[in-house]
Amino acid sequence: MSHFTTLGEFIIDRQKDFPGSSGELSRILSAIRLASKIVNQEINKAGVAADILGAAGSENIQGEQQQKLDVYADEKFIKAIEARGVVCGIGSEENDDYIAYESEKCQNGKYVLLMDPLDGSSNIDVNVSIGTIFSVFKRKSEIGTKAELKDFLQIGDEQVAAGYVIYGSSTMLVFTTGNGVHGFTYDPGIGTFILSHPDMKFPDNGKIYSVNEGNYNNFNQGVRRYIQYCQEIDASTNRPYTGRYIGSLVADFHRNLIKGGIYMYPATNAAPNGKLRLLYECSPLAFLAEQAGGSASTGNGRVMEVEPTELHQRVPYFIGSKEMVEMAETFLQTHKESAQ
Ligand code: AHG
Ligand code: MN
Ligand code: MN
Repeated sequence: MSHFTTLGEFIIDRQKDFPGSSGELSRILSAIRLASKIVNQEINKAGVAADILGAAGSENIQGEQQQKLDVYADEKFIKAIEARGVVCGIGSEENDDYIAYESEKCQNGKYVLLMDPLDGSSNIDVNVSIGTIFSVFKRKSEIGTKAELKDFLQIGDEQVAAGYVIYGSSTMLVFTTGNGVHGFTYDPGIGTFILSHPDMKFPDNGKIYSVNEGNYNNFNQGVRRYIQYCQEIDASTNRPYTGRYIGSLVADFHRNLIKGGIYMYPATNAAPNGKLRLLYECSPLAFLAEQAGGSASTGNGRVMEVEPTELHQRVPYFIGSKEMVEMAETFLQTHKESAQ
């Protein structure tokens, strides 16, 4: 029988990659592994269990409060992380404020976690891939006290781990701790994540562009010109590119990571900072992209260097194959001064 590396084995083998961490990062990853299995189970039955599809706040037939899947996922991750007692606080896209865990054990934790518990939630009801995104930092506040806002407002370069779970035609957990990007596929038969995509790399170039083109007329000149560039016919540069947009960042990112491509959520007239959240979406995937040889830009510099000033901050976002992101940046810079 050939040998499979499970996520559990991998984490133990790579413990040496986490200098200064005496098993804590491993425990965070195993909490994420556990919560993602629970969420995966719930997503898989979402089609038949109509009660999970109801609006949050409404009642099901038993008179119980119904939850939307994003609220469900939020709770499961918060509880699984709390149970390990190595994280002192958690910031979630689903909650207005960060949660500072109350227990002494958690307050002794060295880390904070940020997450988008359910990404692509508009796709839940239509059986299209969704995901979970997470990001881990060392805390700034004193160990043994409650987590503070400054623990969460850190630049992407300070991340010690980041990753995502994609609930797709199969479920995968993909993460980095700063030593490459590794992907594990869930085998539901044995309830285990198995190393299926070691050392994932973005192709330097690709032919997929992913953007919500419904916003085209609201994009600035640089973005519009770059989209036109993607559509131009030029066989020598593999153009026109192929347009692919799922509307779940995780799923669009995952496909582009494997095939080569660029994902964009630029600023619009109505949303000058774009839509995506720096701390829950952009920064963690930027860490993964750079670890996989790709890049992530706001159009005006590395996403990993943006100083957060608030938890739910948004940034314009261009992420994917290195040469494609560079080309998009060139268009943005060239047309910076042009009228909208
Ligand atoms: P979320 O479901 O966590 O709110 O995130 C949705 C995000 C992202 O996943 C996706 O790429 C983007 O919003 C889609 O936005 P548009 O529908 O505006 O294209
Ligand atoms: Mn999201
Ligand atoms: Mn979400």
